[in-house]
Amino acid sequence: MDRYAVFGNPIGQSKSPFIHSQFALQCAQQMQYEAILAPVAGFADSWRDFVAAGGKGGNVTVPFKEQAYQLAEVLSARAQQAGAVNTLYLNHAGQLCGDNTDGIGLVADLTRLGVNLAGCTVLLLGAGGASRGAIGPLLDAGVKQLVLANRTLSKAQAIATSFDSRVQACGFTDIPEYAYPLIINATSAGLAGGRPDIGIQHLIGCQLAYDMVYGAKPTAFMQWAKQHGVAQQADGLGMLLAQAAAAFTIWRGVTPDIEPVMALLKQQLAA
Ligand code: ATR
Repeated sequence: MDRYAVFGNPIGQSKSPFIHSQFALQCAQQMQYEAILAPVAGFADSWRDFVAAGGKGGNVTVPFKEQAYQLAEVLSARAQQAGAVNTLYLNHAGQLCGDNTDGIGLVADLTRLGVNLAGCTVLLLGAGGASRGAIGPLLDAGVKQLVLANRTLSKAQAIATSFDSRVQACGFTDIPEYAYPLIINATSAGLAGGRPDIGIQHLIGCQLAYDMVYGAKPTAFMQWAKQHGVAQQADGLGMLLAQAAAAFTIWRGVTPDIEPVMALLKQQLAA
């Protein structure tokens, strides 16, 4: 049976084995998918051991996305743009290929939620790996202007230099007073129950407040947006599923439907 795995440290919390097992059932694919705890400084050895034992492909999560980027022999354009790899596979020549499906997962989820990205002005909060991987796919989907705001201005500026004038960097206190129909929280603040400290005036005209973090309850950012009149809020569960579906499609050539798996995950989170 074909073997796949997600590599991370820690890895116990990962939903990927459940998600990919569900996709495999749904699409009648003979495969198994496991979670592998790799040593923090030993991702490459773990990956090589896995391939030597017949591993066909993998997902990579924190803290190995940059190490996977270094290890891959062939990088997709979006992996290059993100500077990180979340999906690995071997091509027909046996070369290790690295791709990044996080950003296209975000775009797929926004589309599922009814957002029209063509011509849209977007406020993207945070300048870590999650944010960097999202920018290229958002621009490719037609975003007209992307304001990249970060608590630490220099990190936003460093990312913006890799893109053209559609991407504008700023700190939280000097966010341009545009109307932002879409605000995306790509900071990790929600993991600790917090939210990025931006002014409520930026919510005027916002139709969707999207948080890449997810959990049993709406995140602090989502609750704050709702309190201040934003019509729609969403967390990152759909993005998690959509990036997994894109990886699954790369490996298996079939695209699973995320909706039934999302319903199961919501039940698990609520339990
Ligand atoms: P990831 O790979 O998930 O993006 P990261 O690279 O550690 O994680 O980046 C975390 C991001 O969340 C950064 O933009 C960080 O802001 P700083 O660059 O100023 O550190 C942001 N962040 C984390 N906690 C935050 C908080 N409480 N308020 C605002 N931004 C926060």
